Amino acid sequence: MGDIQSKQVLRLDNFLVNSDKINSSDDTYSKLMFVYSAAIKGLETKLEILQDEFKFFYGCSVIDHTKTRIKKPESIIKKLEGRKQELTYQSMVENINDVAGVRIVCPMKDDIYTVVDVLKNTPDINVLIEKDYVAKPKKSGYASYHMVVEVPVQVLRQTIPVKVEIQVRTLAMDFWASLEHDIKYKNNNKLSKKVSNELVKCAKIINNMDNQMVSIKNVGE
Ligand code: GTP
Ligand code: MG
Repeated sequence: MGDIQSKQVLRLDNFLVNSDKINSSDDTYSKLMFVYSAAIKGLETKLEILQDEFKFFYGCSVIDHTKTRIKKPESIIKKLEGRKQELTYQSMVENINDVAGVRIVCPMKDDIYTVVDVLKNTPDINVLIEKDYVAKPKKSGYASYHMVVEVPVQVLRQTIPVKVEIQVRTLAMDFWASLEHDIKYKNNNKLSKKVSNELVKCAKIINNMDNQMVSIKNVGE
């Protein structure tokens, strides 16, 4: 019994640090994705409890819905190739922060900061990177609060810190980002100056609306 366990632990340790080439049909790939999925599940549960907590104690919601995804193997490879990084498991684990992704969509702009604050104060969520594109949107008009966090995953009697990218945005920001993403996708990631300008204008309208909604809510309270 003891032998089997130590072999498993050894295998797990090997698969996380090995320098084999990424191959989505091999065993290592599935094991790694199992660990990333477990990380997402753990976060999803925390977010569900947070939703319940706000409903139960304050009678309101700070989260409209959440979405999760595991990055497709072809997107992982494309990203590594684009950055001229090695196409190995080691390189993937170290360099790709968004293999596991969680998107949190909030009703109001101020809910974003409430959610971020709760996540930052959760003992087993270790924030590695934070980017506030809500306070300072990207040139494209894109707005969201980004965090790369590390969460512990218990597997085969080991605790493995796993990276997850979290994007927090309002319903309106989500609408804009989805639309912009679709337009870019349909145009091979290239947008004309005219379309880009229109999108920036829409992002500004959305930002004004999000701000107004918060003002209206605060007056109502
Ligand atoms: P990536 O290599 O794209 O992950 O960029 P990064 O590591 O510099 O991270 P960044 O915080 O800029 O963006 C990460 C993710 O945010 C992207 O994968 C998208 O999901 C989203 N994102 C960033 N910029 C835009 C944008 O202009 N439009 C849309 N629709 N999404 C964006
Ligand atoms: Mg990404």
